[in-house]
Amino acid sequence: MRALVTGGAGFIGSALVEALVKDDIPTATLDALTYAGSLANLAGVADAESYLFVEADVRNRKAVEALLEAHQPDVIFHLAAETHVDRSIDAPLRTFATNIEGTYEMLAATTAYWSRLGAPARAAFRFVQASSDEVFGSATEGSVFRETSRYNPNSPYAASKASADYLARTWSMSFGLPVIVAHGCNTYGPRQFPEKLVPLMVLNGSEGRGLPIYGTGAQVRDWMHVDDHVSGLRALAARGSPGESYLLGARNPLTNVDIVNRLCLILDRVRPDASPHAQLISHVDDRPGHDHRYVSDPSKAENSLGWSAETDFEAGLAATVKWYLTNGDWCAQTQERYQRERLGLARAAQ
Ligand SMILES: NC(=O)c1ccc[n+]([C@@H]2O[C@H](COP(=O)([O-])OP(=O)(O)OC[C@H]3O[C@@H](n4cnc5c(N)ncnc54)[C@H](O)[C@@H]3O)[C@@H](O)[C@H]2O)c1
Repeated sequence: MRALVTGGAGFIGSALVEALVKDDIPTATLDALTYAGSLANLAGVADAESYLFVEADVRNRKAVEALLEAHQPDVIFHLAAETHVDRSIDAPLRTFATNIEGTYEMLAATTAYWSRLGAPARAAFRFVQASSDEVFGSATEGSVFRETSRYNPNSPYAASKASADYLARTWSMSFGLPVIVAHGCNTYGPRQFPEKLVPLMVLNGSEGRGLPIYGTGAQVRDWMHVDDHVSGLRALAARGSPGESYLLGARNPLTNVDIVNRLCLILDRVRPDASPHAQLISHVDDRPGHDHRYVSDPSKAENSLGWSAETDFEAGLAATVKWYLTNGDWCAQTQERYQRERLGLARAAQ
């Protein structure tokens, strides 16, 4: 197997690249190194023989084509994206450019490369599209998302991911490219950019800064450790059926306020002098169009791939807190690109 990971300098991408390289799978990473991506995320594999990094935008067709020819992958994990809902509210076009146009460019370049492969290689090839459970909108109380659920995106980010999924499906139907769509759920773990809930709360809490919860904090998300997301993407590449989509869920639905309280309890244990950290919590204006509930039913992936999310949540969360508290240099570098200010209040939407 030879892999190409787009967005490999980001949170999930770097964990995926690390796992593939650790298994001696020749892995090329293509990443534009936006504010969210960093070579520091790939420092653990930088010297490995099976690792190759190319700095390029997924919309740069020539760069993508050159990498495909040079590296000859038989699986592509397309993760490169603008991933923050708040930023997609402030600057929808930037999100659409990478997530929609970028996915189109990846699909078109890949199809040209794939169509030149021999028949066995064409049949074995896989393009794994990293989608999200957010494309389904908000699940009503008592209901869950399934692969058959209707797309109902409510944010520019979700609309862009839904659009990319439609493109991926179209390239599968019209051009025969073996595409598999992965609907991952909310993911946590080391190296997540501090605009996202878990690292934002850990870093703010550890510095005695406020812990702003959007609205009531009653929004429900299914929380999965990044290692489980990675094993799910790999299981899809190995055993998923082309043309199909799969929900990668952890069966771990929790409210935002619950997550923040759990993080505060962990911080109380490791930084008892500053406890109780929960006193730092405040409720701020809700995100416009904030979906209330994302809950996935991952039965299809569990039954047909033999995959399931395995990380114990309490242990995974405690290890994640410890990672941020012991990687001060990494956290300081992100601070140069983002000072943890509030984004996405729809004031600047174009
Ligand atoms: N984090 C989650 O909870 C979650 C859940 C479900 C699905 N996903 C999906 O998984 C994928 C990875 O998410 P993440 O959390 O690791 O994101 P991230 O924001 O941490 O990383 C995104 C990476 O993409 C790169 N990138 C952005 N625009 C690019 C462009 N135009 N060309 C090349 N590279 C570009 C960035 O430099 C960065 O390294 C995304 O497609 C996201 O939609 C994420």
